[in-house]
Formats: sequence, C-alpha cells, structure tokens
Amino acid sequence: LYPRALSQLFLHNGVNILGLHFGHDGAVAIITDGIVRTVLLTERITRVKHAVGIDRALIERALKATNLTLNDIDYCAIATTQTIPIILSRKDEISLDFSAATAAALPHIPSPIAAEPYASGNIWLSNDTFDFSMRIWKERRAASDTAKRLSIYRDGLDDLEVVMPPENVVSPVQWREQWPDLGRLSTLPQMKLKDLWAAQDSRFVFHHPCTITISGKTIPGVFVDHQAAHAADTYYHSGLSSALILCYDGASQPMSAGLLCLAQGNTIVPVARPYTWLGGFYNCVANAVSLGYDAGKLMGLAPYGVPNLFDPAYVETARILRPMNAIGIADRWLKETLERAKKLGYSLDALGKRAQVLEPINADLAASAHKTFEENVLALIRGVAAAARNNHMPFDGICLSGGCALSCPTNTLIAGENMGHVFVPPSCDDTGLAVGAALWMHHNLLSVPVPSRPVGEPISPYQGADIAPADVEQALARFGDSIRVEHLGKRTSIAAAEDLTADKVIGWFEGRSEIGPRALGHRSLLADPRKAANWPRVNEIKGREKWRPFAPAVLEEKASAHFSGMPFPSPYMLFTGDVLDRSALPAITHTDGTARVQTVSRKTGGFHDLLAAFDAQTGCPVVMNTSLNGPGEPIVEAPEEAVRFLMKSDMDVLYVDGHRVTKRS
Ligand SMILES: [Fe+2]
Repeated sequence: LYPRALSQLFLHNGVNILGLHFGHDGAVAIITDGIVRTVLLTERITRVKHAVGIDRALIERALKATNLTLNDIDYCAIATTQTIPIILSRKDEISLDFSAATAAALPHIPSPIAAEPYASGNIWLSNDTFDFSMRIWKERRAASDTAKRLSIYRDGLDDLEVVMPPENVVSPVQWREQWPDLGRLSTLPQMKLKDLWAAQDSRFVFHHPCTITISGKTIPGVFVDHQAAHAADTYYHSGLSSALILCYDGASQPMSAGLLCLAQGNTIVPVARPYTWLGGFYNCVANAVSLGYDAGKLMGLAPYGVPNLFDPAYVETARILRPMNAIGIADRWLKETLERAKKLGYSLDALGKRAQVLEPINADLAASAHKTFEENVLALIRGVAAAARNNHMPFDGICLSGGCALSCPTNTLIAGENMGHVFVPPSCDDTGLAVGAALWMHHNLLSVPVPSRPVGEPISPYQGADIAPADVEQALARFGDSIRVEHLGKRTSIAAAEDLTADKVIGWFEGRSEIGPRALGHRSLLADPRKAANWPRVNEIKGREKWRPFAPAVLEEKASAHFSGMPFPSPYMLFTGDVLDRSALPAITHTDGTARVQTVSRKTGGFHDLLAAFDAQTGCPVVMNTSLNGPGEPIVEAPEEAVRFLMKSDMDVLYVDGHRVTKRS
C-alpha cells in the first residue's frame, strides 16, 4: 500500500519508535522493528501508584536502557489519555506541534480521515471542560488522589503546559456514519462487518500527525487514540493472524470506554464503539460497598456473595448502553437494586461500611454487579462473533485489552465460548498504552508486517530496565550492618525453596521488573500455599484487608494436575481456574474454590527454578505469589526499595539476584 514508506524503512538498521503515554500509569517505551525493547513506568520511579505523566528524565532512562540516543529515534507515538488529552512538563523539555506543516515530516503516514461528530452532537470533551478539571486539581492538589498521581509535577503544577489536539481529530469521539448504532447489543449480529472491513477507512481515523521536540530534537510522530493503542498492544502481541478485538476500560464516558476491531495480518480496522460503560459501572459499585473506586477489590469480594440482586434488565439493553450521563447508570442500578434488596429482606445497615464489607448486602451487591458486567461482556462478544459469521469473516481468536480485561473470571468465561485462542497481554491496563501506540503506528499506519510469533507463546512481561550486578552490590552496601547478606549464586533457588518449606515469607527480586499490575515472579512476595494461616499472615504483611485473596504460581508443566476449567498456559495471571484439591492449597483457594493462576514456564528462568526446587522438596509445584510492595505503593523497582520493604515489614527473607538478605536483630 505504501511502497515509499516500506522502501525507506528497510534501508536502515531497524525502525525505532518512542512510545509515550502521559496519562495515569504514565510510561515510556521503545520498540525496534515492532519488538519491545523496554517499558518504564513513571510510578516505579516516583513511588506514587498510577502516577500521571512523564518527564525528560524518564525518556533518557529508556534511551540509556536500550543504548540509543534521540538521534536514533525515527518516530514518536503518543497515546491519548481519556480525561486528560496530554500534560506536558516544561516547554523547554518537551513540546508538541500540530500545525499542518507537521504532516510534511510524515510522508509515510496516511493523512487522518476527519471523524464526524457523534450524531447527537455530544462532543463530551472540550477545552472548557478540560480547563475546568485542571483548575479543580490545582486547587485541591494537597488532598486529592488525582493530584497525588500528578506527583512528578507537584512543584510546578501551575507551570504545566497543557496541549489539546485539534478537535474532532484525536478525541475519544470518533463516529463513522457507517458504524452501527448499537442501541441494543442484540443488533450486533446485523453489523455489516464485511463492508466496514473492505472500506478500511476507520483504520485511519484514530491518529493525528504531530511533531514532538524533546531537548531540542524534533521527531515526527502521531497521536494514537487511547483504545486503538489498547487494541494494538493486545493483537500485535497475540501471535494470531486474525482476530476480533475488544477493548474496554474504566473511562469516565461510555463513548470512549471501548472499541471493537477486526484484525488480519498487520491491519486493524475499528468497526464499532461498544458504548458500554462496564468499567465505570464496576468502579462505582466498588465505591458504594466501601472499596473506593477499586475494581480489583470488587473482583476479590464478588465470590463472597451470591448474585441474588442481579437484574437481567441491565443486560443487552439501553440501560447500560450509550448512556449520556455515565454516573447515572451506576446510581440508577444501585437505587433500583437496593430497593429490591429491601423487599427481599436484606438488612442495609452494613451497606458501605468497610469493617462489614463481607456482610450479605455488600458481598451480594458485588456478586450481582460482577454478573451484570460478565453477562454484558458475553453478549458483546457473542454478538460480534455472530456478525463475523453472518459476514463470512472467520477469525482465529479473541484479543482483549483495557483495564476491564484484568477481570480473570470474565476472561475465563470468554475462553469457554470456544471462539479460538483468547489472548490478554500482561499490560492490558494503561501501562500498555505507550507500547500500543508505537505498535499501532508501526504495523497499522506504516503497514509493516508483524514478526511471526507462535500462538500461545508468551511475550516477556519483564520489560523494566536492567539491574546491573554492581547496582545490586551498591544497594545492599548502603544498608551496612543492619542486614546480613549471603551470596548464594546457583544455590539461590534451593535455599529459597528451603525457606518457603520452613514457612518463611520471602521476597523474590529477579532481573527486569514486570510491566502491568501483576507481579509475575520478578518482584514477588511468596509463601507456602499449603498453610491456611499464610492467607491472613501475608495480608497483614502487605497491610491489606484480611479477606483479600492470593494467587498461585505453578510450574507450567504441572498446572493441569492442580487447576482445571481454564486455558493453559496462563503466564500473566489473567485467567481463573478451579482448584482441584482445595484442602491441599488453602492459602490460594478463594472462597468459591477458584484461583487466579499464573503458569511458569522454563523460559522464565530463576522463578521456574525456585518452583521446581520447592516441588522437589515438598511435592508441591505451587507457591503463593503476590506483589512486592506495601499498602498503596507501586511494585518495588530498585533493589534498595526491596530491602527497605524487608526492613519495615514482617517479611522474613529477601532474595535479590542471587543474594539472600535478612535483617540483623
Ligand atoms: Fe485504558
């Protein structure tokens, strides 16, 4: 399609794209020829969970980690945020230009097709509303959670330069006249997918050219729509040669809270906005039962309840679809559901009381909201799949992304629909947007073929910066006599397994950190899953509520002997399985007999060795695995942060890249 682009791209050694995401979970990524080289998250540096924004220093770290300079960067791809289009630090560090002249710097990129405004004229985000939200944040900076997440700008919030991309070009509202008006999910099977695919024009709606100037160096680039970046992060990593893609997240407006796409080869064509507000709905119910807007906690609470309050009127109908006032859905659902609960004889005394969160009114609300969420997602997936069948468009599998794809039980239900391989990337939340924007540009805009990857072959989640041995030594030396350090080398995994067998809670720090919210054995806190007491004990160590469940990590080759009802492998802890012998693994078996399983392959390295050693010593190839961090903190990144956690917590032992570290009493 674009011979000039391709001939130029292949003339030099690798195309380097700098991916940036300025929203919450701010990140810098570098990809070369479509392969991820590194992903650095702002939160891991600032130590503020989900921190907003990026600065020049983070970009420089990413360049250093890949032995590149700004002169080596060919393009820049910037993911749009949802409620914050973009926040920049100081203009002398990073600035953007959207003027028409910038298109000349991007001869290889098709011009964006201007999107029509949504038929109702509901352009939800304008400069006015954006300025208003910024003012509120500035006024409340000391107190608000959002202001805390703006941590890298704390000292210069008033000097922030805020840039709005041109209206109707990159905004969450892209409406194509030919897209179906999904008033009800039941209309999905009538979608004219074949026509949408043939036209392909919506492939070129979701970006806008710009140039970005970093430290005086100007680089051609594109803005890429938030959901398009989610779609690219999942599909281009899936190994599938064709797929249906569903992205859905907790965006504050249904118009921007999801995207449905068709994909084949290197081409992704968005075909509809799902117009559901499932992520936001889920967050609001979490808040109503005292868990803050924390969907992950609600997912953990739901199995304690039964979905007695589920109302099928909220499935497949306009009650949850295309609402103009998103908050209104959750309010209405809560109002109607609580009225029904009263009639059913529930006591509402414990409603929203944190200390009584396991009481039936809270737990059953959680279970009922979860069922509402799942039934709508299943209806969406089934509807699009039916449309694909009706249009004679076969696909090899389903790719999911967006924060809602962190819902392990829902992913497992979708896998149970037998629609081919179901892929969810470890960075399906906004931590994957910097990579996703870069991949959208590389494969969908520049039309570069996708490197082949076997289906089911995991991409590495370990994308953080390398930790040099000297850095570990220096970090440990800083703690002087307050710690005891043993250099174990090859004996590390055996010693760690012995500690677990002796019922010690250990920290396991190995190499590059994981991208995404789940610790996958490089920044993990581990315990013996056979001891029921380790459930409350580790919650105590982490400062979490006692009822919150823990996940198992299991040797991939032995996973099916301990868990069932889920797809294997499950390398990113994104699917739920049934625990076959619940009494054998009480610390990782949730109250409904399920667990959020991570399978660990031989390629994982030291973490696999540790599991194998524990299996050899005990006959149990499973360990209890949670993230290495204290309450409200991001996962530890640097060795000294891991040691600091050891010093301030009741964790017994810390393993850091071949060193066994304990506190001196
Ligand atoms: Fe998102």
